[in-house]
Amino acid sequence: MPASVATRKAVESLREQIRRHNFQYHVLDDPDVPDAEYDRLVWKLEVLEAENPELITSDSPTQRVGAVPVSEFGSVQHAIPMLSLDNAFNEEELRGFHRRVTERLELDLDGDLSYAAEPKLDGVAVSLLYQDGRLMRGATRGDGATGENITHNVRTIDAVPLSLYGQGFPSMLEVRGEVYMPRDGFHAFNEQATKKGDKTFVNPRNAAAGSLRQLDPRLTAERPLDIYVYSVGQVVGGSLPDCHSEILDQLQEWGFRVCPERKRVDGIDGCLAFYEDIGTRRVSLGYDIDGVVYKVDRLAYQRKLGLVSRAPRWAIAHKFPAEEELTVVRDIEFQVGRTGAVTPVARLEPVFVGGVTVSNATLHNMDELHRKDVRIGDTVIVRRAGDVIPEVVKVVADRRPKRTRIVKVPANCPVCGSEVVREEDEAVVRCAGGLFCVAQREEALKHFVSRRAMDIDGLGGKLIEQLVAMDRITSPADLFSLDKDQLIVMERMGEKSADNLLDSIEKSKQTTLSRFLYGLGIREVGEATAGSLAGHYGKLTAIVEADEESLQAVPDVGPIVATRIHQFFGKKYNLEVIQRLIDSGVSWSESDSVPVSRDGALAGKSIVLTGALSGMTRNEAKDRIQAAGGKVTGSVSRKTDFLVAGDKAGSKLTRAQNLGVEVLDEHELQNLLADQ
Ligand code: IVH
Repeated sequence: MPASVATRKAVESLREQIRRHNFQYHVLDDPDVPDAEYDRLVWKLEVLEAENPELITSDSPTQRVGAVPVSEFGSVQHAIPMLSLDNAFNEEELRGFHRRVTERLELDLDGDLSYAAEPKLDGVAVSLLYQDGRLMRGATRGDGATGENITHNVRTIDAVPLSLYGQGFPSMLEVRGEVYMPRDGFHAFNEQATKKGDKTFVNPRNAAAGSLRQLDPRLTAERPLDIYVYSVGQVVGGSLPDCHSEILDQLQEWGFRVCPERKRVDGIDGCLAFYEDIGTRRVSLGYDIDGVVYKVDRLAYQRKLGLVSRAPRWAIAHKFPAEEELTVVRDIEFQVGRTGAVTPVARLEPVFVGGVTVSNATLHNMDELHRKDVRIGDTVIVRRAGDVIPEVVKVVADRRPKRTRIVKVPANCPVCGSEVVREEDEAVVRCAGGLFCVAQREEALKHFVSRRAMDIDGLGGKLIEQLVAMDRITSPADLFSLDKDQLIVMERMGEKSADNLLDSIEKSKQTTLSRFLYGLGIREVGEATAGSLAGHYGKLTAIVEADEESLQAVPDVGPIVATRIHQFFGKKYNLEVIQRLIDSGVSWSESDSVPVSRDGALAGKSIVLTGALSGMTRNEAKDRIQAAGGKVTGSVSRKTDFLVAGDKAGSKLTRAQNLGVEVLDEHELQNLLADQ
């Protein structure tokens, strides 16, 4: 029996609602209904379609994943070639580009020619072809003239509209953009793959490319892919605005995701300011970019400029320094950390990566070293992103020379010669020397004086190393008996800096219990745990005397942490150091330690902060949440109770929404805290 008019209408109305919610969610980043409501609508539509299969259309939101894998990729001729971009690696090259553009357009070099500036996304270029508003074909760029047909895969990306939104679109519209994998999704995907023993991806770009290259769309559908569109190709039977930036606005209205960082800028200064701004925010964008792109905004100018070989004269990519490079491992040595952890470090042929010359990269621990099978002589990929410590990502297998050297765990500490031990269930091996080991002593001191612990300004790593090497200080307590004569003989130490240092040592004596505890460097006791301990007990003596059972009543403290704390205060040496610190005048007022309420408004809740807060600093928010019994963690997972989203919240917000984690704004957080 054919479906009734009422059923047809119901199906149409459901699709309409789902499309609107999709638009709100993917395009505007502003979902208007909870996920559960969205799921209900899709489910209703699925039921109606199952009962009335003749109503199923290929652009129905239920039809993203086709049932059958393709046997091979067909090829696609691009009606208009997909171009590439010329690069500018520095300001001079950018100025050269601007000069050529203004000359050809016969404009004033210092005038304010408008450019559409956008991040250069590091993913895979795709073309999406819409006929009468319906997605007909998705293709890769290929060699620019011929690409591969990946329609079955692009359809599975939720942010790719199957049919366009709104009105007025050309009858044939080809939209181009970059499919990418957001960083959060990439890490989650790799974590899962590692657990299952599956292949992991080296970076989000490879992950996006690999995901689009699946013959079975069900596999692609499981990958967290996203898209930003950045241009149009073929346009027939309709017209578009006459500026690039307005075309992107229009595409957004028709349901495409367009990068929110895009901006129209004027002249070379506008371009440089954009480059600076995006460069400083690069690490927090939530997706990888490798530069920015400037496009002459007016299409009339673009036409006049034309192209050379396969790149337009009207656009250029201004590249950031590469975050990954190839280099050779000269040696693998072992470094000893504050807690005695012996970490393998690769000594590299120096290489310029992430904006600096890198000659050392961490290999994390022995398990990682073995998993990656890094050997002396290997060519490796090193990565340095933002301010993160450079790491060896992987070995380039086909560049392995005939003779390489495999490195084994040393039996003795490379610094103090003590035995190296591996504790059960730990990936880390440790030097058993404790504070006898100069390396551990140095690291413990660096931690003690660090900004978030005792905050002693002017006491850098090099100076600590000198002081330790000369046996001037062996424990933190010795810092407080340093005098000017001892300091002035140190390298690069003048009278003035010696005075300043003594001043800041003196100032640091007035601290908080939580900073003091954190500074002691008890294993497993980070800032949050130190704060919980201080809040719970209020007094140092109470913590020193606490048994393991009592310690476990503190939020954040489990059996392992309780053992570590108990062990630490069980050592006579540690108690002596603490006593000497107190005798030297280190003190805190007891009211500094905000009591942590076990039945506070946020007791036992795990909270993530993201974006900029306006009414309080991050640290204040953290302290107040902890005081209300909550715990602040860095990344969103299923276990997160709330995400507090401030202004310009990025990928964490998206992740929270995807996982169904409750999102609070600053005002709602304030209300919860006020309930105290
Ligand atoms: S425009 C005519 N805009 O860069 C210009 N490309 O080197 C064609 N890309 O294949 C591209 N972000 O994959 C443009 N905002 C952006 C881009 C972008 C990334 C990629 C794209 C293209 C490659 C060109």
